[in-house]
Amino acid sequence: MGECKRIGILTSGGDCSGLNAAIRAVVHCACGKGWEVLGIRQATLGLMAHPPQFTKLEIDQVDPLLTSGGTMLGTTNKGDPFAFPMPDGSLCDRSEEIIAGYHQLGLDALIGIGGDGSLAILRRLAQQGGINLVGIPKTIDNDIGITEHAIGFDTAVNIATEALDRLHFTAASHSRVIILEVMGRDAGHIAIAAGIAGGADVILIPEIPYRIDRICDKIKQRQDKGKNYCLIIVSEAVRTQEGETVTMTNRLGQSRYGGISQYLADQISDCIGAETRVTVLGHIQRGGTASPLDRLVAAAFGVAAVNLIDNGKYDYMVTWQNRQVMTVPIAEAIAQYRTVDPEDTLVKTARGLGIYLGDLQ
Ligand code: F6P
Repeated sequence: MGECKRIGILTSGGDCSGLNAAIRAVVHCACGKGWEVLGIRQATLGLMAHPPQFTKLEIDQVDPLLTSGGTMLGTTNKGDPFAFPMPDGSLCDRSEEIIAGYHQLGLDALIGIGGDGSLAILRRLAQQGGINLVGIPKTIDNDIGITEHAIGFDTAVNIATEALDRLHFTAASHSRVIILEVMGRDAGHIAIAAGIAGGADVILIPEIPYRIDRICDKIKQRQDKGKNYCLIIVSEAVRTQEGETVTMTNRLGQSRYGGISQYLADQISDCIGAETRVTVLGHIQRGGTASPLDRLVAAAFGVAAVNLIDNGKYDYMVTWQNRQVMTVPIAEAIAQYRTVDPEDTLVKTARGLGIYLGDLQ
């Protein structure tokens, strides 16, 4: 403890709001201890490059970034280093190049800011190559185990809530059913939080199956009470009634979630003749200024991560539990995929408000 250290920091996986706030916190705390911080470019790609790609980070450089979206370091959510896609179409294990990059830079430790997939890859690299790794959880999906907050989630909920607030007026003006499709992969955290906060009438999440006839009943019940419109929020990985997810394939043959809102809109129109419209929020949820809560969590996580390194405690991830920053072994956090528990407070809240949230049986 106490000696000058050189630490690396990288952001990996999809970007989100609050990443720069976390980088800033790490730089402030580490520089305050007299350490050097190297920002690794484009996640593990920066360590794989010859020579490794990095920027030495100073307080003056990161200070203005508190409110900026994205990640100043760049990121990637492609290219598993253990099966890295090569130009000739083959897959190559390039893990040793990344490990060599870490040692070449003379790093004492590495802070990896990522979601469950990125943290799993970073941990495997760390185990294989003697990397002193500390993890910070980030993802708008909020699906990482043992943390109530991951950086980026709160901002995404704010954006989705604002979208519902805006859609409310146009839905009412035109007597329409409007369906807002939000991200979240296989976890419905964004949909349920924004749906309650934004006054949705129907919330559909991957964890709870739904019935089209029940959605239509809800719309008709509202009409009977003189409410001529309906707001539905749906999480991208919700399954159709046949149990299929709806995906879109681009011209490279890559498949992505997308299209469940239009599927529902067509079903509802067919069933009750309602006029429907869809809004797919997409990457807007990942952009822009981080909410105060995301900045707060990012700051707390950044400081805690540096303190873990100062205490020589590696292979741990910082977490947020009951308004406290705690630490857990990365292995434990990534072993659990955190979906919406059907017994969760928000599920009970939504049902108590009369929101249709699918059927448990
Ligand atoms: O995991 C974060 C996330 O935003 C998901 O909610 C979404 O399904 C996915 O990333 C989108 O990834 P991409 O940026 O590759 O389109």
